[in-house]
Amino acid sequence: MKIDVLLGLQWGDEGKGKIVDVLAPQYDVVARFQGGPNAGHTLIFDGKKYVLHLIPSGIFRENTENIIGNGVVLCPLTLLNEISDLEKSGFNPRANLFISKKATLILPTHRMLDAAQEQSKGASKIGSTLKGIGPVYTDAISRNALRVGDILSDDFRSKYEKLKSYHLLQIKSLNFTDNIDLQEDTWFKSIEQLSKLKLIDTERYINKALDSGKKILAEGAQGTLLDIYAGTYPFVTSSVTTTAGVCIGLGVAPQKIGRVFGIFKAYVTRVGSGPFPTELFDDYGNKIGEIGKEFGSTTGRPRRCGWLDMPALKYAVNINGVTDLIMTKADVLCGFDSIKVAKFYALPNGNEIDYFPSEAIETVKPVYSNVQPWANFSDDISNDNLPKPLLDYIEFIEKETNVPVSIVSTGADRNQLIIRNS
Ligand code: GDP
Ligand code: IMO
Ligand code: MG
Repeated sequence: MKIDVLLGLQWGDEGKGKIVDVLAPQYDVVARFQGGPNAGHTLIFDGKKYVLHLIPSGIFRENTENIIGNGVVLCPLTLLNEISDLEKSGFNPRANLFISKKATLILPTHRMLDAAQEQSKGASKIGSTLKGIGPVYTDAISRNALRVGDILSDDFRSKYEKLKSYHLLQIKSLNFTDNIDLQEDTWFKSIEQLSKLKLIDTERYINKALDSGKKILAEGAQGTLLDIYAGTYPFVTSSVTTTAGVCIGLGVAPQKIGRVFGIFKAYVTRVGSGPFPTELFDDYGNKIGEIGKEFGSTTGRPRRCGWLDMPALKYAVNINGVTDLIMTKADVLCGFDSIKVAKFYALPNGNEIDYFPSEAIETVKPVYSNVQPWANFSDDISNDNLPKPLLDYIEFIEKETNVPVSIVSTGADRNQLIIRNS
């Protein structure tokens, strides 16, 4: 068997959680391969809303196993809180949750260091989620990090103290004096609880599962334009969010990658700083934010909103090897009297390009085409008969990207969905 992938093609929050939850019954295993508690994946069913940060979005499906893979950075406090919230809601997340011994641990001082680094950057701050993501991936790459497997060793406490002292030195050198509650006691209690969960060698587990014919879906966090290498550097996250990240984050070979579901909104949003060519600063932008309820699932910050950006989408489709597109939130644009899409960028010298340039993206200006509006706000598009202008928009995207739009999500609920290509 091959492993399928679902990942974001924009700057995150494309609706990954919802779609993974919808697809999960078709899979034996759902596995997160990168990112950490910076992610916020929202699922809505039976009138209730759940937001997952670390636990994969297959957790609500009884017969689906869920793996937190090697490439994930794990905050034990967040994980245990998430487990406890799910238990309070009547679910049993411990039964089907497996955690890689190679996942990297986020220490309380990683969060503090994140805040210190952001403060020291002043106006050029990344706008990070302050979950410690940059500092913990830095430690992983510089070979100083602690991993989940370390919690089983006798000298874990002394390893912790050593890394903490190193962080405190860095924090001091940044002149950071804010009082952040490190919650160390609670952190160690959650480490204790973490050691009782099912800790596994992910690559062995996953490759065995594939060999025995099991179906696995890798769930991305963040989005392609936030990728550490391919994204709008330095305004990115610190992990590999693209399909390549599945190989390194779960330990599967490239030839074992199967279908790649690339998910995008009918428009674009971004939280935090960084270039965003099609960003809107007018009433249309405000209206998208309002109707689309565009507030961060992790930080609550308002998301910046703009029209769909084809050079960026084509770039993301290309580097991920997307085989199926999934479009979300077209319902949000119902009732808009004007909808636009950027097919090209104009460079400062006036030349037009149809690709996502590798540098100076902040200097390009979108060249818009009009899209025919598709419905009145009161119209319900959550049935199989999508309005003709919306179908035309979908066909335009398919033609530009050369990839079919296999699923159209028409609302936040699990059931609001149209499958066009099974
Ligand atoms: P993720 O990080 O990619 O999982 O996305 P988030 O959960 O952060 O943000 C997506 C938001 O859009 C959530 O509030 C979802 O409930 C909501 N959502 C997902 N799909 C749709 C859709 O098709 N229409 C509408 N209106 N909302 C959607
Ligand atoms: P999901 O999985 C949207 C953004 C932050 C910031 C930048 C770096 O829900 O789509 P970090 O804390 O990772 O160092 O922040 O990346 N960011 C996200 N934006 N959705 C996310 O995750 C994000 N995770 C990080 O806002 O701009
Ligand atoms: Mg999100």
